[in-house]
Amino acid sequence: TQYTAEINAFSTDSADELEQFRIRFLGTKGIIKDIFDEFKAVSPEEKRVLGKVLNEFKQLAEAKYQTLKDQTEVTETKKDLGLDLTLPGEGFEIGARHPLALVRREIVEIFNKLGFIVAEGPEIEDDWHNFSALNFPEEHPARDMQDTFFIKKGGEKGDIALRTHTSSVQVRMMEEGKPPFRAIMPGRVYRNEAISARAHCFFHQVEGLYVDENVSFADLKQTLFYFVQELYGEGTKVRFRPSYFPFTEPSAEMDISCTICKGAGCQLCKQSGWVEILGCGMVDPNVLENCGIDSKKYSGFAFGMGIERVANLKFEIKDLRLFSENDARFLKQYKTSL
Ligand code: PHE
Repeated sequence: TQYTAEINAFSTDSADELEQFRIRFLGTKGIIKDIFDEFKAVSPEEKRVLGKVLNEFKQLAEAKYQTLKDQTEVTETKKDLGLDLTLPGEGFEIGARHPLALVRREIVEIFNKLGFIVAEGPEIEDDWHNFSALNFPEEHPARDMQDTFFIKKGGEKGDIALRTHTSSVQVRMMEEGKPPFRAIMPGRVYRNEAISARAHCFFHQVEGLYVDENVSFADLKQTLFYFVQELYGEGTKVRFRPSYFPFTEPSAEMDISCTICKGAGCQLCKQSGWVEILGCGMVDPNVLENCGIDSKKYSGFAFGMGIERVANLKFEIKDLRLFSENDARFLKQYKTSL
């Protein structure tokens, strides 16, 4: 009984101490061996009673040893690895989507609801798709090295350059398919400009094209009006100012009532209450014909907007360079659930 109490009280997380315990009780010269040796000498009647007690004692010692052995093994492994396996995991940080990707997706979703599909084209374009088919005259300044990054002279469809706008995707779409067309075309475009807070040598646009029988300027206005209400909230006003693009006639620039001051006048809109967000117009019949579409039967509208500009207005970002610097402090602010 003295030993039983000792065994019950014994505890250790040291492998050495446990080994001492094993030798003392369970070893070949241990206490249990001794007792069993003495046991041989007692009378048969006593053996029956004592035998049961002794066996229980032996089992107690063995069970204790096994439990402690399992425990110390875990402790020893932890020591070896130099880590505590019971600590909670570290968890990993969820990344953020790029603000331009968020805005692009929002634009795409709004136009999807109106039945516009998404189309894409190459960033390296030939002169035909970027300029000629779009009715740019031969001497147009955009065809100048000053504004466009040219890659190669000549070629079947003219010089090869980085596309300066997504309008080239309109041409590809109309050449390859049959009307009606109803698509938006997001993508990266390049212009040879000095990098500053307000200009960059690349940026992103979303082009829109709708060609069918009897498409009118009213359709253009209604589509863009709906888009703006969805993107900037109900009550956002729009206005159209006459403009010029070689590939649309008539052409317009669309302003919206300033998203910050709601038209009252602030720094962003330079006290005018309006900010420009896109260019648009009715597809020039020459463009339709260049793409093999009967301009007597079909008409259409097109528009193009800069995603950076839309994002600037949404998030009040004042420096364009932030979009491409990959500064995590900037990017982390745009955490979303998706
Ligand atoms: N491509 C024009 C630009 O880059 C925008 C635009 C697209 C204008 C379609 C009218 C129609 O400025």
